[in-house]
Amino acid sequence: MKEIKIGICGWGNIATGLYKSITDNSEAIKNNSGLKIAINCIGARRDNPACDPGSVKVLRDIFDVVNEDVDAIVELIGGVETARELILAAIRNNKHVITANKAVIYHHGDEIFQAAREKNVKVLFEAAVCAGTPVIKVLQNDLAGNHISKISGMLNGTTNFILSQMEEGADFEPTLKIAQDKGYAEPDPSFDIDGLDAAHKLGILSHIAFGTNLPPKDFYIEGISKITGEDFKYTSELGYSIKHLAVVKSLGNKIEIRAHPALLINSSILASLKGVRNGIEIDSDLVDKLHIAGSGAGQESTASGLISDIIHLSSNSSNDFDIEKKENKKDVLDINNLSFQNYFYIESDDKNIISSIKSIVNNHNLAIEKIIQKDNLSNNLTPIFFITELCTEPQANMLLDEIKGMDTIEKVRRIRIESD
Ligand code: HSE
Repeated sequence: MKEIKIGICGWGNIATGLYKSITDNSEAIKNNSGLKIAINCIGARRDNPACDPGSVKVLRDIFDVVNEDVDAIVELIGGVETARELILAAIRNNKHVITANKAVIYHHGDEIFQAAREKNVKVLFEAAVCAGTPVIKVLQNDLAGNHISKISGMLNGTTNFILSQMEEGADFEPTLKIAQDKGYAEPDPSFDIDGLDAAHKLGILSHIAFGTNLPPKDFYIEGISKITGEDFKYTSELGYSIKHLAVVKSLGNKIEIRAHPALLINSSILASLKGVRNGIEIDSDLVDKLHIAGSGAGQESTASGLISDIIHLSSNSSNDFDIEKKENKKDVLDINNLSFQNYFYIESDDKNIISSIKSIVNNHNLAIEKIIQKDNLSNNLTPIFFITELCTEPQANMLLDEIKGMDTIEKVRRIRIESD
């Protein structure tokens, strides 16, 4: 039986999860792929009480792993600059590289892929986007005969977990703590909450589908910290669910790319995905809409993505990252060129606020599709929420600013509504 020899760099939550999954599922791996995965060494600065690596050789300098008798290094140290150096050192030593590190691929992908091309080694990163939920090789291999026009979805498990729990009435902070305890969140959870983790994954998908650079040009990123429990109550009354959505779309020689909270109609497949699940919708010419959903974070799901890449090393496919051939250099559209319907939520001490809002919206040459006033809150403020018809981003921002500036307004929030 063919054996693939790996060295694992890093010995944290993800690395120990990979060790356990390879050990526990070795029979399944052999039966499914005809391959044996041999962990020849581990690069770990310190032991991890969560996992005993048995007789596997442990090197205290992670850079020593690249000199060992291994076919590939599995980079699981996290971070950006040291990870870049480690990956480039492995490539220089003619080792394939597998990584779950989206930040290093997002920031240094072009450089890393170029180095790998020159040495004719592979760099695989299935687990970097949606963990074990397959999407990278789906785009590179399974949909290779298609023109992709759009990819959208929830690419961060932590935020989908938090938003789903808030939808059920939970509070933000304790739910984030649960996501951290379950190993979903990044070491610095602001990467999840502020939308950066999803944006890194989106940049990688955009590179594969549309040939944009790594790193890509700046694009609009907004996190979930402004979403409150009230928003779930009222948007659900309107037939929507709140998600953190990442979208990349090809528009001729331009690319629309953005990651932010959005209202999705409740009957959509993406809206139905709760908890740590990631969901991706891919629009292509031959398959039409393809939906992929699965656990997008955590030890086990990430191990599944990494094992898939280790097994893929034995395939004869060319360098999977080699997308120089793609039509390249599409310009990123500024979000100010886009239009959305919007949900606005307002709290006011004016019981007749609804008529003022209608006339302000009218003055901006905009229209309201639906507006609802609720009973006064315990603090005696009047809540109203409304949905605008389609308006440009500058129009929506001007409206938001004007409402914010009114003396009678205590709170105002806006969430974009995603159309199909
Ligand atoms: N923190 C990430 C998430 C881990 O929650 O999706 C997987 O990339």
